[in-house]
Amino acid sequence: MSRKKITVIGGGNVGATTAQRLAEKDFCDVVLVDIVEGMPQGKALDLMQSGPVYGYDSKVVGTNGYEETADSDIVVITSGLARKPGMSRDDLLKVNAGIVKDVTLKAIAKSPEAMIIVVSNPLDAMTYVAHKHSKLPANKVMGMAGILDSARFRCFIAMELGVSVKDITAFVLGGHGDTMVPSTKYTTVAGIPVEDLIPRQKLDAIVERTRKGGGEIVALLKTGSAYYAPSAAAVQMCESILLDKKMILPCAVLSSGKYDGCDGLFVGLPAKLGQDGVEEVVKFKLAAEESAALKKSAEAVKELCAAVDRLGF
Ligand code: NAI
Ligand code: 2OP
Repeated sequence: MSRKKITVIGGGNVGATTAQRLAEKDFCDVVLVDIVEGMPQGKALDLMQSGPVYGYDSKVVGTNGYEETADSDIVVITSGLARKPGMSRDDLLKVNAGIVKDVTLKAIAKSPEAMIIVVSNPLDAMTYVAHKHSKLPANKVMGMAGILDSARFRCFIAMELGVSVKDITAFVLGGHGDTMVPSTKYTTVAGIPVEDLIPRQKLDAIVERTRKGGGEIVALLKTGSAYYAPSAAAVQMCESILLDKKMILPCAVLSSGKYDGCDGLFVGLPAKLGQDGVEEVVKFKLAAEESAALKKSAEAVKELCAAVDRLGF
């Protein structure tokens, strides 16, 4: 039986860390693609040389082309610009739409059966671009953001209560932007509703910090955006798919019929990920204000997708 293969496009902070985490998990081989000559090759060799110390047999290949990516099971797209201080995710739309379109076409030409996980920002709109140009069925195209936003939310709650992050379950839904919807109704601490444990005002502050979680890191790093948690989140999606774990994870998936105002859009919703990709969009009964906030967030995503179309991508 041959090993599974994941191509990671973009060998920058998120892409290289994703390749590293995948190699260390040891359930697939990895191809790292970037346009910068020598960089993906160098990082891949470095990762191969970590194997004997770390104890993994994953093969990691770096390349500036697509030959080596042939017959990948999953393609993770991280290529594109990252946010700089003062820059919104939406500022990235124009340049990243061109890159995502280009790499999607090249990757799918070599791996027509692959699934695509998009990471490049603005996330929901870039997932739309990858779906549009790959022409893959919707269950095979998804975006990573909700796991990251939920992880930030879980982390802040664990910090506030001084408990293990493992005890916190939380879902952040909607677009990966300022309108994202951290659902407090479905957030629990060892099964106890968080609303019973943290006073409303404090919880509202945590929700706000979550919404601005990406920007907080951009402001600290000054030269780029987060990549440790984003790569961990992308790898969790790969793992749930390739190992058919059927985890329910918030991801940007095509909505149809289950969430008000979201139909026809790739937007963050709870999805069951398994060997068939998005096997189900799971319906949660949201509180009225959460449902309204999700609708508003979907409207923001819709505007970005309209901009993608208007710009000809
Ligand atoms: P980075 O600048 O470190 O890496 C981007 C890489 O893409 C560079 O190495 C660049 O050479 C490469 N690249 C550019 N055009 C390419 C092409 N046509 N083909 C192949 N490679 C190409 O940026 P970083 O931090 O890795 O972020 C990557 C993207 O992911 C950004 O758009 C960022 O905003 C987004 N992001 C999204 C998150 C999410 O939650 N969805 C979280 C973190 C980052
Ligand atoms: C983040 O949320 C930049 O979207 C990226 O960290």
